[in-house]
Amino acid sequence: MIFFVTGGSRGIGAAIVLQAFAAGHDVAFTYRTDENSAHAIVEQAATSGRRVKYYQLDVRDSEAVERVGEQVADELGDVQVVVNNAGVVRSNLAAMMTDDEWREVLDTNLSGAFYVCRAFLPTMLSTGFGRIINISSVVSGGMTGMANYAAAKAGLHGLTKSLAKEYGRKNITANCIVAGAVDTDMARHELSEKVLRFGQEFAPVPNGRLAAPQEIANIVTFLASEAANYINGAEISVTGGLDWLP
Ligand SMILES: NC(=O)c1ccc[n+]([C@@H]2O[C@H](COP(=O)([O-])OP(=O)(O)OC[C@H]3O[C@@H](n4cnc5c(N)ncnc54)[C@H](OP(=O)(O)O)[C@@H]3O)[C@@H](O)[C@H]2O)c1
Repeated sequence: MIFFVTGGSRGIGAAIVLQAFAAGHDVAFTYRTDENSAHAIVEQAATSGRRVKYYQLDVRDSEAVERVGEQVADELGDVQVVVNNAGVVRSNLAAMMTDDEWREVLDTNLSGAFYVCRAFLPTMLSTGFGRIINISSVVSGGMTGMANYAAAKAGLHGLTKSLAKEYGRKNITANCIVAGAVDTDMARHELSEKVLRFGQEFAPVPNGRLAAPQEIANIVTFLASEAANYINGAEISVTGGLDWLP
């Protein structure tokens, strides 16, 4: 199959890209700023014999999403699996949150995912097959300092369930993976101490550690496989048991 993964240059996205190769798929993935990391992913995957291409894309730009979608179709073919993984965190307490902090997170994590789904749905409809996998977060249930991120991820659940209802009969499924705290730049640099303390010191994560990015990618691989054909509109928790945030 052909995968399209947003934000595949680092973190969870990179693990998804590499696992898709390992499972024998071709992959188009995007980066926004970090071309060197995107290039490194291609080099790691080069031995797999599958096709891989990366594209610069800011998912907030709907015209750019359409353009890249067309480029991928021309260069690799019809995409069957879309993974909306690109995301950002801009934390602040709601009373102090700026318009820019609100917009950047909503535009990237929610609108960006919508633009990508809309760009690839026509191909999925014409080929009669599609798998949409959206990377959400346990923060979708609300967290202090993350009203923008929580709203975006909760919105992603609504988007996912709506697509599941609109297109399930067309053999197109849409599901969310609800990740807990995952060991990536986002957790280490942007949520930083707070998240690390949750995972390691205070240990409210029942599993007692952060997830490895591959542990999220495992579920993407499963959702893209035939074994998951009847899973549609689901929110699959991969949180190590973490179900509450302050
Ligand atoms: N880490 C966690 O604890 C955690 C937990 C739950 C859910 N998640 C979700 O998992 C996903 C991946 O997170 P991560 O931890 O792997 O993050 P990360 O290491 O910070 O990587 C984020 C990726 O998104 C890309 N990106 C950011 N803004 C973009 C934009 N406007 N347009 C296109 N691409 C953009 C980045 O590209 P560049 O590097 O090129 O800028 C990068 O590839 C996100 O949706 C995040 O919300 C993460």
